[in-house]
Parts: sequence; C-alpha cells; structure tokens
Amino acid sequence: MNSTRTITLFRAGLLNPIDSDTWVYIRDGICAVSKGRIIQCGPTNKIYRQFPNIEVISLDGTIMPGFTDLHCHWVQHDVQGVYSGELLDWLQNYIWPEERRFINESLARERAKAFYSDMLRAGTVMGLSFSSVHVGATKIALSEMRGDWIIGNALMAVNAPNYLTSHSCHRYDDLRSVVDDVDGSHYAVTPRFAPNLRAVDLRIAAEIASSRSLLLQTHLAESKAEVRWVKELFPEAKNYTDVYDRIGLLGSRTVLAHCVELDETEWICLAKRRAWVAHCPSSNEALYNSRMPLERLRQFHVSWALASDIGAGPSHSMLHVLQRFFAIHEAAGVRVTSEEGLYRSTLAGAQAIGRDKVAGNFMPGKRADFVLMPGRPRQNELSGWFRDLCVGTIAELEHRPLGTWLGGMQIEP
Ligand code: GUN
Ligand code: ZN
Repeated sequence: MNSTRTITLFRAGLLNPIDSDTWVYIRDGICAVSKGRIIQCGPTNKIYRQFPNIEVISLDGTIMPGFTDLHCHWVQHDVQGVYSGELLDWLQNYIWPEERRFINESLARERAKAFYSDMLRAGTVMGLSFSSVHVGATKIALSEMRGDWIIGNALMAVNAPNYLTSHSCHRYDDLRSVVDDVDGSHYAVTPRFAPNLRAVDLRIAAEIASSRSLLLQTHLAESKAEVRWVKELFPEAKNYTDVYDRIGLLGSRTVLAHCVELDETEWICLAKRRAWVAHCPSSNEALYNSRMPLERLRQFHVSWALASDIGAGPSHSMLHVLQRFFAIHEAAGVRVTSEEGLYRSTLAGAQAIGRDKVAGNFMPGKRADFVLMPGRPRQNELSGWFRDLCVGTIAELEHRPLGTWLGGMQIEP
C-alpha cells in the first residue's frame, strides 16, 4: 500500500509553544499527520512540495496544541463556580457533600462523560485530575476517558465526614490493590491534603507512588486558615512543605496545587526536590485566596504549569484560566507574556505529567492533538490576537475553539 495514502495535511495558521519565552508561528502552514502522529510541520509551500499529491484539509483559523490542565477535580465539574467562601468552609459545606454522591456509579458515569465532552469542547485534551474517594467512580472516569488524563481517587483518612473517610483507600493494602488494578500510566496517587491525612497515611502514599514510579498529586498552602490548621495538626514539622518533605513525598513526579502561602525556605525545598506546582489563578481569585507569587516561582526556578482547579475555579476553560492569569498578575505589576501563557497551558503541563515526549506541542512523532482557534493574525498582531482569544464571558470562552482534534481526528464533543 502507498504510505502517502495514510497522510493528512492540515493547512492553517500554526502556533507552536517552545518554552516560556518562545513560540513559533507560521501564518500559512501545514501540519502533516500520519496514523495519529505529526510527521512534519512547516510553511505550506515547503511541506506541500514534499507531499504533492495529497489532499489538503484547509482550516479557517489557527491551530495550536490542545490545552493541558494540570490540576482539576472532575467530580466537581457539575458545581464549578457555583459555591464560594473560605476554603475549609467551602469544602465542608458544599464540596464534600457533592463528592459523596459519586458512590452512585450511574451518576459517576454521566458526570464523567459530561466532563470529557466539555473539556474537549473547550480545547483541553490532557490533564491531571482528582477523583472522589470512590474507587468505582475513579475506574469509571478512567474507562470513559477521552483525551489523555491521569486521575486518582482522593485519599482522606481524618478530619472529614465518615461518609467519605469510610470509602477512602489510604490504608496500605487498599491502596496497593487499587494501584495493582489500574493502568499506572493513567493513575496518580492522590492524598487530598495534609489536614485529611496523618503522617502514617502520607508515608504509605509516598512509598506506593515511588515504588511504582507513579505521579503523586496533592494540595499545598492554598489558604491562610489551612496553613494555620496544618501547623496545629503537625507541630513537629518546620512548615507545611516540611510535612510532605519529611516523609519523602516531594520529587519530580509530585504535583502540588496552589502553593500561594509559602515562605522562602519552602520555595527552596520545592526547587531542591524538583516538584511541580499547579498554578490555579481563577480558583485563587474565586475562593478569595492570595495571588500566586509568580516572582517566587521565577526566582527559585520552580517548575510550574497552569490549571483550572474546577470546581473552585469557575470554568474548565483554559482560556478563562489564562484570562485570570494575565489579569491578576498584571494588576500586581508583574510582567506576563502571551508566549508564557501558551507554554504554561500546553507543553509545561505535558512536561509535568511526563507526556512531553508524546504530546504538548507540534513536533514530529507527537500526537496530533490540536485545537482550532478563530483568526489567522499577522506576525506583528500575534500577541494581541492571543490576548483577545482570552477576552469574554465564561460561556464565550468555553465555546471559543472552533474544533478539537485527537490523533488527527476531529472529535464530536
Ligand atoms: N484542598 C483540599 N481539597 C480541595 C479541593 O477539592 N479543592 C481545592 N481548591 N482545594 C482543596
Ligand atoms: Zn484542587
């Protein structure tokens, strides 16, 4: 069979994130795809010469890699942005009663389908998500998956209602049997946050994650009240970060959501351990928490990527996350660029979850997972065009992408 028959050429504007300072834009470009993978990207005349007799699919707009959401709660999708308040009250009054419902597996299945469909509609193709404590709901989310997600059942041993802790798999044998039963490339060990676990539970989570080379995700220093509570609960620790560090939970396969209330020694520790931070600007704003000190991330060279943190974040759209990212830091006089915004919402998240060899930007060999955005700006309009993509109401932003492709196939959300 002629191998060129399996090639598809997508012609559009191509915007490719490279790093936090750099992107490459080709106003009239072609992305050549075969068997779901990118084989080449470049200017139309150059690529077309290499594949002269192949049909071209012309797309009206600009394609960029699909977004990566480095931290969210798929089980909170239905209530995203519905409730607010101080973190600990918000969890107890609204979020934990909502997550309780995921004992019901038909509800879990409906919600999982809606989550993936809405994510793809909004251009998010990949990410890292908390589930509820329920293993059944977690397995349903894994089996209904569209896109490339890493998910874990939340581990919650203490300081939470019995209707959740009694279903949690924080004990060694329980967690081991979950880990033995799931596909490790899509599973993250997920201790919810220090207040919900004792040192012994955290140690089990860290040991099992590291023995299987699994990702580990948790929350760190999201609110002032949470930090005060952790000080009371773990008086032996030097600080909140040390609660995790002293039991060996921090490493390059650890993703920590928030980190907005850290002192200098904690930043130094995160940098030393090469842990990843999920920065959730829209969530911090919605729950009246502090602004992420972006200057600290930069000063200590801590790796980070953007995240929606739905349901505290009011929208699963990474365009909305980007809108709040630009607005919050610029209001504080901190410089943020469009190039950085694109990188932190795509390739950086892929790097955090270990998917950058197969996804995250347009490189030969990577999956052809991309999103089509309206407009094909001139070079000198590019940065402004990207900012304009992020302007609008939540409903507008969730529907702004004109289409999403997974492995070169346009998906029906
Ligand atoms: N800390 C512990 N659990 C949660 C959660 O579900 N959402 C947020 N934003 N913070 C948390
Ligand atoms: Zn969260």
